[in-house]
Amino acid sequence: MRDGRIDALLAELTRDEKLRLVRGRPDPEGRATGYLPGVERLDIPPLGLVDGPLGVRDREATAFPATITLGATWDPDLAHRVGRALAAETRARGHDVLLAPGLNVVRVPTGGRTFEYLSEDPRLTSAVGAAYVGGVEAGGVAATAKHFVANNQEHRRDVVDAVVSERALREVYLPGFRAAVEADVSAVMAAYNRVNGHYMSEHRPLLEGVLREEWGFDGVVTSDWWGTHDAVAAAEGGLDLEMPGASVVELFAPHSRVLRAMVRLRPSDRLDLDPPLFWRPVQRLFTDDGQPDPYPFDLFGDPLRRAVADGLVAEATLDRKVRHVLGLYDRLGKLGGPRGERSRGAPRTVDWEGHHDLAREVARRGTVLLANDGTLPLGGNESLAVVGPNADEAKVGGGGSSEVTPTRTVSPVEGLRERASAPNVGFERGVKPVANPSMFDVPGSGLRRRLRSGPDFDAAVAAAAAADVTVVVVQDGATEGEDRDSMALPGGQDRLVGAVAEANPRTVVVCRSSGPVEMPWADDVAAVVQTWYPGQADGAALADVLYGADPGGRLPVTVGRRFEDYPVAGDERRYPGEHEHVHYDEGVFVGYRGFDRDGVAPRFPFGHGLSYADFEYDDLAIEHIDTDGGGDDLDAPVLDATVTVANRADRPGREVVQAYVEPPAAPAGIDRPRRELAAFESVGLDGGERRTVPLSVPKRALARYDPRDGWTVDAGEYAVVVGRSSRDGRVRASVELSK
Ligand code: NOJ
Repeated sequence: MRDGRIDALLAELTRDEKLRLVRGRPDPEGRATGYLPGVERLDIPPLGLVDGPLGVRDREATAFPATITLGATWDPDLAHRVGRALAAETRARGHDVLLAPGLNVVRVPTGGRTFEYLSEDPRLTSAVGAAYVGGVEAGGVAATAKHFVANNQEHRRDVVDAVVSERALREVYLPGFRAAVEADVSAVMAAYNRVNGHYMSEHRPLLEGVLREEWGFDGVVTSDWWGTHDAVAAAEGGLDLEMPGASVVELFAPHSRVLRAMVRLRPSDRLDLDPPLFWRPVQRLFTDDGQPDPYPFDLFGDPLRRAVADGLVAEATLDRKVRHVLGLYDRLGKLGGPRGERSRGAPRTVDWEGHHDLAREVARRGTVLLANDGTLPLGGNESLAVVGPNADEAKVGGGGSSEVTPTRTVSPVEGLRERASAPNVGFERGVKPVANPSMFDVPGSGLRRRLRSGPDFDAAVAAAAAADVTVVVVQDGATEGEDRDSMALPGGQDRLVGAVAEANPRTVVVCRSSGPVEMPWADDVAAVVQTWYPGQADGAALADVLYGADPGGRLPVTVGRRFEDYPVAGDERRYPGEHEHVHYDEGVFVGYRGFDRDGVAPRFPFGHGLSYADFEYDDLAIEHIDTDGGGDDLDAPVLDATVTVANRADRPGREVVQAYVEPPAAPAGIDRPRRELAAFESVGLDGGERRTVPLSVPKRALARYDPRDGWTVDAGEYAVVVGRSSRDGRVRASVELSK
């Protein structure tokens, strides 16, 4: 940051101008999700912020696969490329800040935004998330790590208090954000929820203590939209920017003449009404729906002005916020500096075809082949029946602020018709189309779908019986703002799969879901292919995989048999919470860590995924290195492992080599997960190829967090297990560490 230039600007800004820089406004063109008008007098231009993790939410853009699909690739390089592509589209649409990625850990399998997050594991989330951030930032756009922190459910997200231990925060929920800061993320979005009693937009210990002081973050902390409650508490708590800082009426005003007139007339101000007029009827729509109240707004407007004038908030505190915001401008090259000159010269055109291909590559590489009796890959000459209520639509994403209007789409039916050499690929819905819910839905919006031609269950079963292979495409529906009410697939789809599988033993199920779903038919079908929300290239990627491209995906979340098997289940305190408090009583035992502790067999374990190739593991060697001389650098490698992986098949394949650490017993009274992911590497191997794969284990992967002593590496024997999933270790070695 060029402090001199920023100091000079700060000295020139009036207090009102400073306030203009810490409070979002509606974009006059109605396209940016958030907008800062800048200060024209001093050549500080406007700044546009736009959603979100799956693509750019402004007119048409590439609808990339859901974030969880990216998590399932276990491939940071691919995430970096997606970040670059998103940056190019953000710039092409004229915006500066992308409100992504979502780095919350998947705690609740039915969470409404599971599809927007990377995984249930902090190390996987950190590695892929940091690479995504790096890609966005390298493309000249500011990334926003969100939602900081413990926004692990949509149910009552606007008020719920996550009661969580410091150990679980440090070991599970914070690492993804720390990795983003290390990747030089420009912005962090405070979550809606409370953590241990305080709203995140006012959480001084986490925003100032951990984020700024410990991690050295010097970017901007923004609120989530209408996620502020109290001007002084937020100002003192470490929030820099209030978003959107405007009422809903103002936000939609660019789209409506009536609303614009209302905003200009300011009837509530004239009548001195608080809450304002508009709020009274709107209020009814915003109760208990997972949405934040868009009132009060404008806290960093008049209320903050008054608080500074009255000495409740120091002018220096306001200056510090402005410094952070100007720092962001500077990074983006918007204060006329060198990056500005560079970025002004950079092309704003987008290779839309190339981005569609990238979306297809990610969808393919994030596809997890969960089960396969040899029916896949298809040979090419089979007749196919495609069955499924929504198989003629691409599953572009889930509902909410991550919704993208795709540049084009390929449905499973289209993708398979294009690829299959058999002249006819039949299609039957079987059951009624499943809704693609959205928090933006207005009543009656599902009507067209409900009126669509009546599905014929028997015709679907008959088509399945007549075809060589049946592909059943099932899906869930999930949206920001509410959690799914069960892990079961909606709308009779399980019954449909059962009947089709009975009619045709060569039934392949393609599951498009936001996260894990129940799969009661898993043992009765020939193959199960998990594609999450594959984005606009859905059907094209699916055809790639079914016809032989090796699915590179591995599970980033545990697929349990039922919700009750997950560590958060069984007690309302843990989920969905009691009296707006959700107690993270499972501590660090989230996802597979909990399944392992409880001795519960998942249907498919974390890290699982089959290949069309056949991999063998050998020769695991571990070397203990002590680069920092036993110092405090937790990211210093502490173990160097090498393992030999051979592809025994005569076809190329992609393997995700996974290293888990099994720690020694911790001191009495402290439970540690049996094994934790420590390192991984996604490698493509030709048929017959054999390769030595290096895996570097950082000290942090061996450490546990002790509330008194901080990060602690216990003395004792650490086993390193390398293999194909959290429950499929192939080779093992151990090392003894002394204190
Ligand atoms: C609320 C969501 O939680 C956040 O992810 C998004 O960026 C903002 N709304 C803006 O749409």
